[in-house]
Amino acid sequence: MIRYRKATFADVDEIHELIAGYASQGVMLPKPHSTLYETLREFVVAEEIATKKIVGVGALHFTWNELAEVRSMAVDENFSRRGIGSAIVKKLLEEGRAFGIKKFFTLTYRPDFFGTLGFTTTTKESLPHKIWKECIECPKFPNCDEIAMTLE
Ligand SMILES: CC(C)(COP(=O)(O)OP(=O)(O)OC[C@H]1O[C@@H](n2cnc3c(N)ncnc32)[C@H](O)[C@@H]1OP(=O)(O)O)[C@@H](O)C(=O)NCCC(=O)NCCS
Repeated sequence: MIRYRKATFADVDEIHELIAGYASQGVMLPKPHSTLYETLREFVVAEEIATKKIVGVGALHFTWNELAEVRSMAVDENFSRRGIGSAIVKKLLEEGRAFGIKKFFTLTYRPDFFGTLGFTTTTKESLPHKIWKECIECPKFPNCDEIAMTLE
């Protein structure tokens, strides 16, 4: 059984480890502890109730007026394709809508996954310039090969 809840400080090491595993494969950007602490309120975690292990994470980052990014999605490989990633995204969308977010976007290498949740592919140019602020720190900048997707 999996419980979905907001992240707490006690989760930071596990969130870091989960993201670092995928970052080492080049499918996600690493998130240092400092960034995780600063953005902890953005995170939802999936916790296996029996073991208290964090098996999935995701975050919602407010970017602009009524616009937010679904980011940092990672599900433990041993728990993949069980609907955990989808459940995290749905919780993030619910949270965003409660704040009045009208449009969600994501930059991803997994369009199939986000497609099942109603996201559709768009051009990067259609997103506000503001969203590229953090991209300057990305090792891939300016040759971003992620796919931009939105959900209105
Ligand atoms: C992408 C990721 C978060 C998906 O998590 P998940 O819990 O396995 O996803 P779900 O079980 O909710 O998948 C829902 C649907 O999305 C699609 N999907 C998920 N992973 C997929 C994959 N690797 N290839 C193709 N379709 C996929 C499928 O249609 C799936 O439904 P199905 O299993 O009934 O066919 C997870 O694979 C992951 O952590 N990947 C590595 C890190 C990463 O790429 N993060 C995203 C960066 S934006």
